[in-house]
Amino acid sequence: MHKREFLKKAATFGLTVPFAWDAFARSFDEVSNLGPAELASEDAFWENIRNNYLLTPEYINLESGYYCMLPEPLLEKYISHIHRVNREHSHYMRKSLNKEKKQIIDRLAIESGCSPDELAITRNTTESLDLVINGIHWKKGDEAVMALQDYGAMLNMFRLMEERYGITLRKVSLPNDPQSDDEIVDLYRSQINEKTKLLMVCHMVNITGQVLPVRKICDMAHGLGVQVMVDGAHSFAHVRTSVRDLDCDYYGTSLHKWLSAPLGNGLLYVKKERIPELWPLLAEDKKEPGDIKRLSHTGTTPVHTMMGIVDAIDHFHMIGAQRKTERLRYLQRYWSDRVRDLPKVIMNTPRDPDRSCAIANVGIEGIPPKQLAQSLMDEFNIWTVGIDRPGVKGCRITPNVYTTTSELEALVDAITKLSHG
Ligand SMILES: Cc1ncc(COP(=O)(O)O)c(C=O)c1O
Repeated sequence: MHKREFLKKAATFGLTVPFAWDAFARSFDEVSNLGPAELASEDAFWENIRNNYLLTPEYINLESGYYCMLPEPLLEKYISHIHRVNREHSHYMRKSLNKEKKQIIDRLAIESGCSPDELAITRNTTESLDLVINGIHWKKGDEAVMALQDYGAMLNMFRLMEERYGITLRKVSLPNDPQSDDEIVDLYRSQINEKTKLLMVCHMVNITGQVLPVRKICDMAHGLGVQVMVDGAHSFAHVRTSVRDLDCDYYGTSLHKWLSAPLGNGLLYVKKERIPELWPLLAEDKKEPGDIKRLSHTGTTPVHTMMGIVDAIDHFHMIGAQRKTERLRYLQRYWSDRVRDLPKVIMNTPRDPDRSCAIANVGIEGIPPKQLAQSLMDEFNIWTVGIDRPGVKGCRITPNVYTTTSELEALVDAITKLSHG
């Protein structure tokens, strides 16, 4: 089939045919000859994907940074898992759960580039990273390095360690438009000394979308004998992520963000040799010190949530990892390139396209972030979130695979009007 012909057909596919997973999967075969960069600007192709989401007509959703909604195919599968766990009850828990959990972990290990015995399923990034922060054997006087722009829950957990064990926290302030990787690496290096035990770094800063040079930071820190914990809440299934390539000691993410797994799914990676060094949060039955299961005991949980992970991975690969990254970056640049140099507009996201993907942050001189978010919603029907943090004052704008360029035109129009006062 000719490319244009397919794209036209694709645009109407979801509107005319009730959803079927297999048909949806087959529709991707037809574009297998097109490269990710070529597909990034093919709105008809992405319209086909959009048609699988039940989007509210009440506003334009540019707040996918909180979590990513499930498309209908994944929602249907998720509901079927709830039915199954309810129907099979304790028989499922006693006979099937462990086997299926192992299969899910095996798939996740492939996706994240590690060994299954270095990986645990958690409820979210907060649980994953707080488990590490709390699990380290801190001594009075130990130090940890992080950024003022890191996520609040982790900063709070470090504060607790400060109060409980007397550790010292050193915080860098990240520039919103760095000129080189070295600028960032040197910034973190400047806070390390012989007492430093752990460095926390975001793979993608959630409030600005900035992608940090994590591998280079890990190499620098390891050279100085410091462990690195990566907050990957926004990088997994968004930009290429392999924990082995990052060479970090710990990595945590929320699978309900960019993977679009059901709410309440997270992942924790702990480098093999670090596992015996951590205290668990909740005690597990006697296990070998190097067994990661020692760290992830939680009692009975809504296991159907976890069962949705493999479906989400399958769906992610149907779209294609590289295609998704290219489209998301295309969408961000589609609007940000149009407003970046307008008078009074302040972009809090790097100009260099390789330093961000879907997420960007925009402010307007003289308008507090909360008020800007309110105006976007009240006057233009655009849902975003206002961010007022050190060095970052503006609205976070997060499109997703279902976002159209005409929705982004509406955003550009709104920012242009608001910046003219
Ligand atoms: C950078 C970052 N870290 C951690 C989290 C916490 O994620 P969760 O609430 O899923 O635990 C978030 C949530 O948005 C985040 O953006």
